Amino acid sequence: MHCTMELTGLILTAICLGMSSVVVGNEVSKHQDRLAGRPSSVSDASLPCLKDLAKKFGIWIGSASNAKHIHDDKEYDQVLAEQFSITTPENACKWTIIRPNEATFNFTNCDYVVATAQGNNQTIRGHNLCWGAHNPAWLDKFDNNSTALRSLLITHISTVGKRYAGRMYSWDVVNGAVLDSPKNGTYLKTNTWYPAVPDYIDLAFKTTHEADSSVKLFYNDYNCEVINAKSDAIYKMLKTMMANSVPLHGFGIQAHFSISHADARHAKKRLSGGHKFASSVPTDWSTVEDNIKRFVDLGLEVHITEMDVSIPSNSQQYLDQQADVYRNMLKACLKYAPKCKSFETWGFVDKYSWKKNDPDYFDASFKPKPCFYAVVDTLNTTHVL
Ligand code: GLA
Repeated sequence: MHCTMELTGLILTAICLGMSSVVVGNEVSKHQDRLAGRPSSVSDASLPCLKDLAKKFGIWIGSASNAKHIHDDKEYDQVLAEQFSITTPENACKWTIIRPNEATFNFTNCDYVVATAQGNNQTIRGHNLCWGAHNPAWLDKFDNNSTALRSLLITHISTVGKRYAGRMYSWDVVNGAVLDSPKNGTYLKTNTWYPAVPDYIDLAFKTTHEADSSVKLFYNDYNCEVINAKSDAIYKMLKTMMANSVPLHGFGIQAHFSISHADARHAKKRLSGGHKFASSVPTDWSTVEDNIKRFVDLGLEVHITEMDVSIPSNSQQYLDQQADVYRNMLKACLKYAPKCKSFETWGFVDKYSWKKNDPDYFDASFKPKPCFYAVVDTLNTTHVL
């Protein structure tokens, strides 16, 4: 299983993993007929390598990676290694997995995903140190106990941060903390940490910095791709943190999209925080660009961290629309590359997605979809600024 690097207008170029040359198609459009002649699955030795195509922009292309699938599915493991230059452990480094009980840290899965990524020479985004969801049930007994929660948060972040120091490029220090519809200055979600620990966000960032002074510290959230009340609130919050000298380096835009209200499969409340993660597709992509720009102008590195696009069915029309969303989101990031430094999806093969609506690059049999080729084309045809 191999992939090739495709150049605009040319048919063939370098090959990943040292295999011999093979022909890949010309520039791709969103239409199926123009996909004719393209590799029909990842087992064809002619698939373009996203990670190589992205190099000229100085950015990484990545996907979340899952410990179980790396272990159980060879094809998954190989595509992950071949296509992507950055990865985020999907669940393996979250509280639910690392903290089976109050007294124990279990790093087995997190270590495994991190070691796999290191073996693949991939940059690693640590995810995440503090969130109101995906927390273990035992934490509930500390509800509203400010002193205990404060101490648990510090211990967790110090321990995890120190263990992975030098291995993670960045941490999503705080995830999904801001309300979907902030109003009248109220913008933080009530969750495990808030309001019990009113300054938990600053505390989490400072503690991570103390544990690992060279790792980049990110705030990561969903429904904030465009300029809206939520991204405004995040912008203000991050600006204030910077003004107060809280260590902060980046903003992660999750970019979970849904076309025509495709019925995304939402994780259980404990896992998802009970929120609907999918954003509707922007009608005006310039507002996505403007949004990225304002965070870049603040001096932050921007990462697209969890992109996927749910579709109501696998009709050609929806596959094409899905491809357009990938293309437009990537274009918005490339406009500010390399300050928009990473373009990552939350998985890459539909059968393992957290959503049931086929949101990823490859179908269940690892056949690349139009959205994969939309990303290939965009990388091929966009000029480096
Ligand atoms: C959020 C989180 C991720 C993941 C996804 C989908 O976006 O940041 O860790 O849980 O939801 O489940």
